[in-house]
Amino acid sequence: MSLKMVDYYAKRAAEHDRIYALPERQNDVRRLQQFCQTRFAGLEVLEISCGTGYWTQFIASSARSIVATDINEEVLAIARGRQSEGAQVEFSRADSYELPDLSRPFAAGFAGFWWSHVPKRRLDAFLAGFHRRLVPGALVAFIDNRYVPGSSTPISRTDESGDSFQLRKLGDGSVHEVLKNFPAPEELKAAIDYRATSVEITLLDYYWILTYRAK
Ligand SMILES: C[S@@+](CC[C@H](N)C(=O)[O-])C[C@H]1O[C@@H](n2cnc3c(N)ncnc32)[C@H](O)[C@@H]1O
Repeated sequence: MSLKMVDYYAKRAAEHDRIYALPERQNDVRRLQQFCQTRFAGLEVLEISCGTGYWTQFIASSARSIVATDINEEVLAIARGRQSEGAQVEFSRADSYELPDLSRPFAAGFAGFWWSHVPKRRLDAFLAGFHRRLVPGALVAFIDNRYVPGSSTPISRTDESGDSFQLRKLGDGSVHEVLKNFPAPEELKAAIDYRATSVEITLLDYYWILTYRAK
């Protein structure tokens, strides 16, 4: 991910969670919350690119423990300020492309709204590094956006690698070009094919959920 992107999310930290308050998305957001609350019960979870810890708080309600990482201190400061009941939660600064050895292999891995920001050419190396931190057979889950005309920010351009971009405006009026991909279910399957078993993809109106077991 480019420095531009890291900077955008640092600047957006305080505004970030508004995206989960859009009225038309509430049914889907509740489905994602329920997914996070139930799917990781009793597991030691590694969450990467956790942002403000919005999803961490739901995973924490039933997981055994969570190590949640992000590259930006600005969002981690907000995440640390949330009160999570239940699991033991630890926030730590880490680059999702170069995850350090976090002291133990994890039984589950999760990333919310991260896959869409990974350039296609970096996806395989990212997945390899992520899986290295998980036990064989670990539960892996990604949630992310579907492109919904009229609701999603329009795609401003697509480059030669097939990565698409949006122009996003922040509260201070600044405009940022952000890489944002909207993979079809077949693309998701193809990307994890040889790394996964028990692949499941659920399409909601605004979001997709991918789960599988790491090989
Ligand atoms: C779309 S936000 C998602 C945040 C959170 N997972 C959520 O769903 O609300 C993407 C996050 O990726 C983080 N990020 C950007 N580049 C990163 C990198 N190389 N390593 C780790 N995190 C990164 C940003 O700081 C931001 O918090």
